[in-house]
Amino acid sequence: MKFFKPTDPLPTLGRLEKVAKENGALILEGWVVSFESKPLETIQVYIAAKDVTNFELASTLPSPDIKKNYPNIPGADKARYRIKIPLTPQQQQQLKNSLVVVTPLFQGQAGGIMTNVLESSIPTPSQEYIKFVGGHFSDVAFDFLSYFIQRVGLEPGDKVLDVGCGVGRLAYSLAYYLSPQGGYEGFDIAEKLIKWAESEISSRFPNFNFQVVNIYNQMYNPEGKIQSLDFVFPHPDKSFELVFLTSVFTHLRAKEVRHYLDEIARVLKPGGRCLCTCFLLNPESEAAIAKGRGAHKIAHPLEECYTSNLQMPEAAIGYKESLLLGWMRERSLSVVGKYYGQWCARNKFTSYQDFLVLQKN
Ligand SMILES: C[S@@+](CC[C@H](N)C(=O)[O-])C[C@H]1O[C@@H](n2cnc3c(N)ncnc32)[C@H](O)[C@@H]1O
Repeated sequence: MKFFKPTDPLPTLGRLEKVAKENGALILEGWVVSFESKPLETIQVYIAAKDVTNFELASTLPSPDIKKNYPNIPGADKARYRIKIPLTPQQQQQLKNSLVVVTPLFQGQAGGIMTNVLESSIPTPSQEYIKFVGGHFSDVAFDFLSYFIQRVGLEPGDKVLDVGCGVGRLAYSLAYYLSPQGGYEGFDIAEKLIKWAESEISSRFPNFNFQVVNIYNQMYNPEGKIQSLDFVFPHPDKSFELVFLTSVFTHLRAKEVRHYLDEIARVLKPGGRCLCTCFLLNPESEAAIAKGRGAHKIAHPLEECYTSNLQMPEAAIGYKESLLLGWMRERSLSVVGKYYGQWCARNKFTSYQDFLVLQKN
């Protein structure tokens, strides 16, 4: 079942923050804004891949918290929505673990979809593990699931590879989208995180597999014995419809990135896609860094890349956009989507880091 043709939505920002049962109804709460100040017309709702039409929608509700976080986005002060869906007693029993997908419509055009799950059976990891992978968990998990569905065209029966999967943050949301015909493979260099993911995710979703590889990384695994340049992904050629790396190229050196791109091109099926986040250095981001805007001063040169910290270069690594895109082109990976991020204090953005969608020719 395919929810959406991959398309570029209108530039919007939002989340579906809450999905809960209350007094015999399903309550969906979140917020959404259009960067182009378009008025929200309505919201489409899918639950467990079914269209839902019987609901009450309240929108443009006050949102001082969103305004505080995003003071420059028009309409951020009235961005909240609340949807109330009556449930039959049978639905109240059945809907646990259901994926909810909402699409905001602005003058008939779709904005970015927002996803979440009702009563997730997978628990969230400890704060220590969440901090290890960047400090956020389910909001990032569902943001990226939404990008996979809408911008990459991921289908439930697809096979996906999560390179540098950490604690399985993205597996957490994908588990509610991929069907038993689809499958998830993830590997990482942090053993304790992989153990958690195996015991909490693979135990519930047997088509989700995690592997640990003892690769050296100064920041994440300083005791590692294997060099990433010597590591061959443990998968046959042409195995996956999607390979993704969230916040991984932002911690790898140039030679490692090129080697991983070789491996990604090898394991992708023809026409398969790769989503990778990165810090792209171009005139706009470089000017922002030079003015001290944004959290990462990725300005210290280091063998074909730039870092924010010469003592711990892996803390945040950025690449000249033209150089990185050239490496991708050389491996028959065409850029089919480019989404700039908020990291360098942009006023209009999609996610925090930049991300690219590549297609294997
Ligand atoms: C910021 S975390 C992101 C984790 C995960 N992708 C996510 O979004 O939750 C970066 C991850 O990259 C992993 N990592 C670092 N070097 C790696 C390498 N050479 N191969 C695979 N994973 C690596 C780290 O162990 C860490 O889990």
